[in-house]
Order: sequence, then structure tokens, then C-alpha cells
Amino acid sequence: MKRLAGRIILVTGSARGLGFAIAKRCAEEGATVEMCDILEDVGWLAAGELDAAGHTVHFQSCDITKQAEVDALFASIRARRGRLDGLVNNAALATRLAGKGFDEIDEAVWDRVFDINVKGTWRVTKAAASLLREAKPGRVVNLASDTALWGGDLFLHYITSKGAIIAMTRGLARELGPHDVTVNAIAPGLTPTEATEAAPERRWQQYLDGQLIKRAPTTEDIAAMAAFLLSPDAAMITGQTMAVNGGMTLN
Ligand SMILES: NC(=O)c1ccc[n+]([C@@H]2O[C@H](COP(=O)([O-])OP(=O)(O)OC[C@H]3O[C@@H](n4cnc5c(N)ncnc54)[C@H](O)[C@@H]3O)[C@@H](O)[C@H]2O)c1
Repeated sequence: MKRLAGRIILVTGSARGLGFAIAKRCAEEGATVEMCDILEDVGWLAAGELDAAGHTVHFQSCDITKQAEVDALFASIRARRGRLDGLVNNAALATRLAGKGFDEIDEAVWDRVFDINVKGTWRVTKAAASLLREAKPGRVVNLASDTALWGGDLFLHYITSKGAIIAMTRGLARELGPHDVTVNAIAPGLTPTEATEAAPERRWQQYLDGQLIKRAPTTEDIAAMAAFLLSPDAAMITGQTMAVNGGMTLN
């Protein structure tokens, strides 16, 4: 089913992992996909893979903490496509953060996590706002984390940043709703990607014990939810956080 045919969608942090899976799924559902990441070489290869499969994609290097780079990204999207229908705020500092108690976290690392995960998401959404309001309907999907829902231990900076994403999703949904822009969050469970390779065995076991569906989510499971939220099927869903974690958390 090509639910995203004719739609232009930007996926941040899409060189690898969940961002790449979401970009791929959107392309398979007919969207033209704008990809960006700080991992330039990996990003070009990832975009090349989708291009070789016959999809319409474009990769641009962009650090979402740098206003000039975000401005350049949107100038290029405006010039190339003239519009933007969907934004997936996936880019985040999500790797090698776990293992430190809240009173051991380095302040510079705390600030870096918030600069990328929270302020970066706001910065990109702000840059996209006028295009999204014109899209009618516009869509925003933010990657949160289920750790903000169950209180994942030993990475307080990360889980707090993802709690902020859930709050930001609700606030943005209120402000953008009147412009026919839905804003939702996905809270993935622990999903195998490059970023979670370093997760300790006890964390995987903790998830398996707590989940009702006894397997780890795949990147495709998360991408499927993103594609749904970007599609016409989700027209009346906004301000929500969708946990894709096999029932690890129950609303
Ligand atoms: N994999 C999981 O288990 C899991 C669980 C819950 C939430 N998430 C969230 O899903 C998203 C993707 O996670 P992932 O597992 O694929 O991790 P990942 O580290 O592979 O993906 C994050 C991407 O963002 C990019 N990025 C980092 N800083 C950036 C910046 N300043 N500007 C632009 N791009 C930047 C990285 O280069 C990377 O490609 C993240 O928001 C993460 O917090 C992942």
C-alpha cells in the first residue's frame, strides 16, 4: 500500500538505525524522502541504497544543533521540493550514555544530550513550521523512548530528554492542530540498532521479562508505526505517545 504517495518527508538522523528504517519505509510507501545526519559518509551510502532501489531520496549533512546548518537544509528542501508534508524528529544522542548514576553524570554530557535531543528537535520543528502549516495536512513524528515511561535507570539525562519530547509533542500538537498538523511521539522499547549494541545483557533481559510479546522490537516495527502516523490513516490522532515495546508499558 502506497499511503505516502506524493508526500515529501524529512527524517533527521537517518544515516542508520531507526532513522534509516523509517526513511526506507516512507520511501517504500511512495514518499519522497529527505534524509539528514551528522554521519556524512554513512548517510550518502544509506541514501544511495534507497536510490538504487528506485526511490526518490536526497541526503544532506546537517548537525541539528547548528542553526546555520538547519537553515541550509531547509533552504535546500524549499529549492528542491517547494514543500514539506512530514517531519520525523529522530536524530538524538542515544548511544553509550547508560551506566552512570544520576549523581555521577558529567554536566557537559547532560548539556550535550539536551542540546541535541530536546533543543535540536525544537530547532528543526521551528524551521519546518511554515512548510508544515502549508501542507494541509502536515505531520510531525517525534522519537521519544519508553524509558521515559517506565523510568529507565542509570541514564537520567537521556530518559529526561525523552520525557521532554513527550511533553513537547503534546504542546506542539495543541499549537499546530488548528493548522491541520498532527504531532505524535513514538516510544520504542529496546530495539537492536548500532546504538544499542553496547546495551548490557541485563537490560535486554529486563525488557524480555517485562514485555508481553516475548521478542525485541525490530527497526521495521518502529518504522511501521512512523509510516502509520504520517499517513492519512492517522488523521485524527494527535498529541499521543505510541509505545512500540511489546507491552513493556501499559497506558
Ligand atoms: N534503538 C532503541 O532501542 C531506541 C529506543 C528508544 C528510543 N530510541 C530513539 O530512536 C531514535 C533513533 O535511535 P537509534 O537506536 O537508531 O540510534 P542511532 O544513534 O543509530 O541514531 C541516531 C542518529 O542521529 C544522528 N545524530 C546524532 N546527533 C545528531 C545531530 N546533532 N544532528 C544530526 N543527526 C544527529 C546519529 O548520527 C544517528 O544516525 C533516537 O531518537 C533514540 O533516542 C531508540
